[in-house]
Amino acid sequence: MGPLVTLLIGLVSLTVALDNGLLKTPPMGWMAWERFRCDIDCKDDPENCIREELFRDMANRLVEDGWKELGYEYVIIDDCWMSMQRDNQGRLQPDASRFPGGIAKLAEYVHDRGLKLGIYADMGTQTCMGFPGTTLDKIEIDAQTFASWGVDYLKFDGCNSNPVEQMLGYPLMSKALNATGRPIAYSCSWPAYVGGLPPNVNYSLLADICHLWRNYNDIQDSWDSVQNIIEWFSQNQDELQPTAGPGRWNDPDMLIIGNFGLSLEQARSQMALWAIMAAPLIMSNNLRNLDNSARAILQNKAAIGINQDPMGIQGRRLLQETSHIEVYWRPLSYSASALVFLSRRTDMPFLYHTSLAKLHYDAGNYEVFFTGKTVAGLNASTEFTVSINPSGVVMWYIYPEPSKQTDTLDHQHYKASRFSFHKAKPGRHAVL
Ligand code: GLA
Repeated sequence: MGPLVTLLIGLVSLTVALDNGLLKTPPMGWMAWERFRCDIDCKDDPENCIREELFRDMANRLVEDGWKELGYEYVIIDDCWMSMQRDNQGRLQPDASRFPGGIAKLAEYVHDRGLKLGIYADMGTQTCMGFPGTTLDKIEIDAQTFASWGVDYLKFDGCNSNPVEQMLGYPLMSKALNATGRPIAYSCSWPAYVGGLPPNVNYSLLADICHLWRNYNDIQDSWDSVQNIIEWFSQNQDELQPTAGPGRWNDPDMLIIGNFGLSLEQARSQMALWAIMAAPLIMSNNLRNLDNSARAILQNKAAIGINQDPMGIQGRRLLQETSHIEVYWRPLSYSASALVFLSRRTDMPFLYHTSLAKLHYDAGNYEVFFTGKTVAGLNASTEFTVSINPSGVVMWYIYPEPSKQTDTLDHQHYKASRFSFHKAKPGRHAVL
């Protein structure tokens, strides 16, 4: 890299700080890509093609089916919304036949329902699917265009650019978004294009300029894909976990619950692990015909509560047993924490014997909340057994037991935040 480029990067990074108060907890919402991809065949597939009706439908579902009140608020357009040509003033424009009302009108529709609109662009000559890209000279105009439409969230992909262009472009877009004066959440795919790890990725720079970032491969509709993502994030947790916090999140990609590739157990596992990883809860599924079990998992208040914990500390994998049981842990506000027991087995429910002390908890008494009930009087050294289904999880919310005399403020908080994880089938997943 030449000295001029290094100097430029230095200057760009010095002048950027995207601390506009957005995304103090991981974003929640819905995004088109994993489920609807680049389907632009509105003639033969009108229900599923990328056009304004799809986004209006999803906005309606978010509001009417109880998603919005749980925090799912972003409706995010992905690739394939654009016209192949910029307009005569050099601005991106939507495909006129699929978005006849334009993006500003769609944003208004979404805002009228108390939701927020996200959009997709690509740092490079073309998007991943070959639509017009945002080269360095177009960054400012594209940021201004999105702001003028009332966009609230930008996913900035990185196909068809080189590492030097990315190093210049991602900070420049951050600056350009800031300069519009509109608070726009900024999701950067940059790390995913340069291996996802230091030294190629400078996570402290990223945390200064982006609210979230894609670190790794695209999720696909399969348990293999989910496992592969969990594995990569866990193996690299020493690098990745400390970079997350309020306003700065690692993004292991969309929730695929409700699609075709996951069993119920696997769907619960994705939700539980995404909660532990403080991951964005951005679904990509068909909200028009989601079945009740998928809905119950995605709307599970325990998982959402853990995911949205205000302290914003990402969790970690604590243990990998030779039995193929793994234990994940996330510290939460008010001295509480979450534990997830994941089975990578493929035979039958496994009885896992352990104690909180073995999971590095301090001596003391704890209460555990799971499957809709509270169990009190668990000493750190108490041996207990958890039954974990193949490719399934058991998720616990744990907090120190209050002393007999005082019902402390913290305890009142725990009581207030009681929620049920596997609400659909209480008591089925764990025994003490
Ligand atoms: C990349 C991204 C995906 C999606 C597609 C669209 O692969 O990682 O999330 O946005 O591009 O083409």
